[in-house]
Amino acid sequence: MSSVKFGMIGLGLMGKEFAGCVARWGHLVDFPLQPEIVAVCDAEPSLFSWYAEHFPSLRQQTTSYRALLQNPDVEVVYCAVPHHLHEEIYSAVIQAGKHLMGEKPFGMDEKANERITHALRQHPDCFVRCTSQFPFFPAVQRIGVMLEQGRFGRIIEVNAGFQHSSDLDPDKPINWKRQIEKNGEYGCMGDLGLHVCHVPFRAGWRIYNVRAILSDIVSERPDGRGNRVPCRTWDNATLFCEAADADAGDLCFPLTLKMQRIAPGEKNTWSLEIYGTRAAARFSTKRPKTLQILEYTGGEQVWQHIDMGYETAFRTHTGSIFEFGFSDAILQMWAAFLYERHHQKPLKKFAGCLTPQEAAFSHVLFTAALESQRERRTVTLY
Ligand SMILES: NC(=O)c1ccc[n+]([C@@H]2O[C@H](COP(=O)([O-])OP(=O)(O)OC[C@H]3O[C@@H](n4cnc5c(N)ncnc54)[C@H](O)[C@@H]3O)[C@@H](O)[C@H]2O)c1
Repeated sequence: MSSVKFGMIGLGLMGKEFAGCVARWGHLVDFPLQPEIVAVCDAEPSLFSWYAEHFPSLRQQTTSYRALLQNPDVEVVYCAVPHHLHEEIYSAVIQAGKHLMGEKPFGMDEKANERITHALRQHPDCFVRCTSQFPFFPAVQRIGVMLEQGRFGRIIEVNAGFQHSSDLDPDKPINWKRQIEKNGEYGCMGDLGLHVCHVPFRAGWRIYNVRAILSDIVSERPDGRGNRVPCRTWDNATLFCEAADADAGDLCFPLTLKMQRIAPGEKNTWSLEIYGTRAAARFSTKRPKTLQILEYTGGEQVWQHIDMGYETAFRTHTGSIFEFGFSDAILQMWAAFLYERHHQKPLKKFAGCLTPQEAAFSHVLFTAALESQRERRTVTLY
């Protein structure tokens, strides 16, 4: 097994998720590559000790991402920092000639994303991808196969969503994810949007236009120091789009993308519904084992509820009847990243991480959504 040497920039919530995958990498069966964490960087040095304790391969701990990028041992960088830092740090990673897994939204806004794309154009040898783990749930992988096989027939309607509820509490203190300067003007779209777009984009559906309704529901939050401060990020976004299957010419269908930080009762619920003339499928992480499928060949229309096991794109030692969860999806996503970098193509169409082109299109869409909200009209993309 050959080792791939990683440097990490940003050691918070998502940094620890990646590190957790590295720690249990042996769970993957016959995977030829092994990530090794050799360098870590965070503005907050108190985070280093956990990494040093758990990863004996670690040789560099620094508060300067530039120092990490100068480390010749680092081949691949995982960067999980607040959105306002994506442009500067992702571009620097690429300019240093390192491969990059960047977190969404891959630049705080369209301009930031364009500058990252520009850096990539100058360094086409860098393998660059953006995170998005939900398509690796076994049920979504099955839906991906159905899409590849054209089993839905003509698409009638698609709904995709990602919903949270903890922001319903107006006393939840503000953090960078609710500050427009650090999270960006997209608000919940920057935070949740690429997760929602991944399957529709990968399916190749062309999005012609968008009418967005954005809501700022809680406009003030405690700052943790006894004051209440403005909270100007969009809490919820619903994007009504007209889309078409590339193979179906102008036969458009409604595509609804819901990104909500305030969806009462929902705790990290990612969902996808596809309705077609020959089949329909529904999945939500609320019931992570259950895949609902309706296949129509005439006669009764019957929804089947299938218990999905641990039927993953990348095989693991976990028994195939066991349950799959968030950290398993992250492990699969990282396997997909390394697989695609090594083989120059994903294992399967829907077993690949988001490409820079897909991330760039999300910025076109979310920027149009802001315009749509501002002007209360439908904005054309093509
Ligand atoms: N894929 C997912 O499901 C998922 C979930 C949550 C967050 N994210 C994304 O991950 C990224 C990070 O989010 P998080 O939840 O881990 O945030 P976090 O606040 O937990 O961690 C961010 C880390 O970046 C560090 N940092 C800030 N400025 C820095 C600098 N100049 N140099 C080095 N480190 C610096 C902070 O000290 C912090 O430790 C964001 O882009 C976010 O959108 C993805």
